Amino acid sequence: MVKKKVVLAYSGGLDTSVCIRYLQKFHDAQVTTVTVDCGQDEDFNEIESRALAVGATKHIHIDSTEEFANEYVSKCIKANALYQGKYPLATALARPLIASKLVEVASNEDAKLVAHGCTGKGNDQVRFDITIKSLNPELNILAPIRDMNLTRDQELKFAMEENIPISLEAKKYSIDVNLWGRAIEGGELEDASMEPPENIFHFVNNRSSEARYVEIEFRSGVPIALDGNPLKLQDLIVEMNRIAGAHGIGIVDIIENRIVGIKSREVYEAPAAISLIECHKDLENLVLTDHEINFKRIIEEKWSWLVYSGLWLEPLRRDLDEFINTAQSRVNGKVKLKLQNGSCRVVGRSSKNAIYDPEEATYSSRSVFDQRLAKGFIELWGKQSVISNQMLSSFES
Ligand code: ARG
Repeated sequence: MVKKKVVLAYSGGLDTSVCIRYLQKFHDAQVTTVTVDCGQDEDFNEIESRALAVGATKHIHIDSTEEFANEYVSKCIKANALYQGKYPLATALARPLIASKLVEVASNEDAKLVAHGCTGKGNDQVRFDITIKSLNPELNILAPIRDMNLTRDQELKFAMEENIPISLEAKKYSIDVNLWGRAIEGGELEDASMEPPENIFHFVNNRSSEARYVEIEFRSGVPIALDGNPLKLQDLIVEMNRIAGAHGIGIVDIIENRIVGIKSREVYEAPAAISLIECHKDLENLVLTDHEINFKRIIEEKWSWLVYSGLWLEPLRRDLDEFINTAQSRVNGKVKLKLQNGSCRVVGRSSKNAIYDPEEATYSSRSVFDQRLAKGFIELWGKQSVISNQMLSSFES
């Protein structure tokens, strides 16, 4: 009998390695593993060997770093996207891209089944399932860890029994990493009252206590150069992870509201994301109107929530991107950042589209602002507040 073909998203970690063996044993499947490179800087030859050693019949490697940077991360920067005001969405952004590659491979390999290693407790299952079904409703999805209700301890035991090699780090934490950041969950971090040990961080350290100035140039809301050197977005992010990371920038430690109702303690390191969004917000303040900025904050929150919640392909996300892009056409200019001892501060900005006008703002005699106009303005501006307060005090007396 021909075995059924399953295309499995494979990271090389505990969950997905266990999945290969489970799919073989319990579904009698022929497994094709797919690893999508979203800039995670890992040893992909080693991941391929591991997939084949655990039992994959075929392994496919897809380098999507450029697509991830240009089609996903750039939108996140333009949207100043921070879920709960803090998490730059690294994992959430990569999931729809990985899911779309799974769907492509399934079609090329003529497979009717796709699989992922997500648990039934997290957000990633939601992101995978909705994206896969949106792109091809004919595909059936297997999620062995969820389907069998496996705990991490049970997975580790199974991996031991089956001689599946697992790294020391994977025994302690569940980790997900890409260009835009690294998420570390589980193990001792589940005690929300305890500080995460410093040695879990790969990007962030405080190696350098000297101040470092960095100049980022933006065009249409997207970073295009660092210290005057034009760079592809993906390379600029790698550089910023290194530079800002070495100055202690980018650790996020939050109690996160997951889609499935659980509150979880999450620890991230995302030096590039945190510092570039800081620069981008600052430049927007220079070139956009007060009205645009205030309205955009509402859009940004909705955008971040949609992406976090697995709704990347929701038409509303694209509608919001249209709004965001219109405003971004003026977000051009340079931002100077000072990094030192965990602080990341914008210390200068300039743009040909600036609506900051020193001649309006100055207190010196260069001022073009006619102060006399302010008196009448204030009278009209405060009219309703003044009247209602007068009425209140007349009721009280
Ligand atoms: N809580 C984050 C999110 O939902 C990170 C998830 C990390 N995933 C993982 N397999 N460790 O986007």
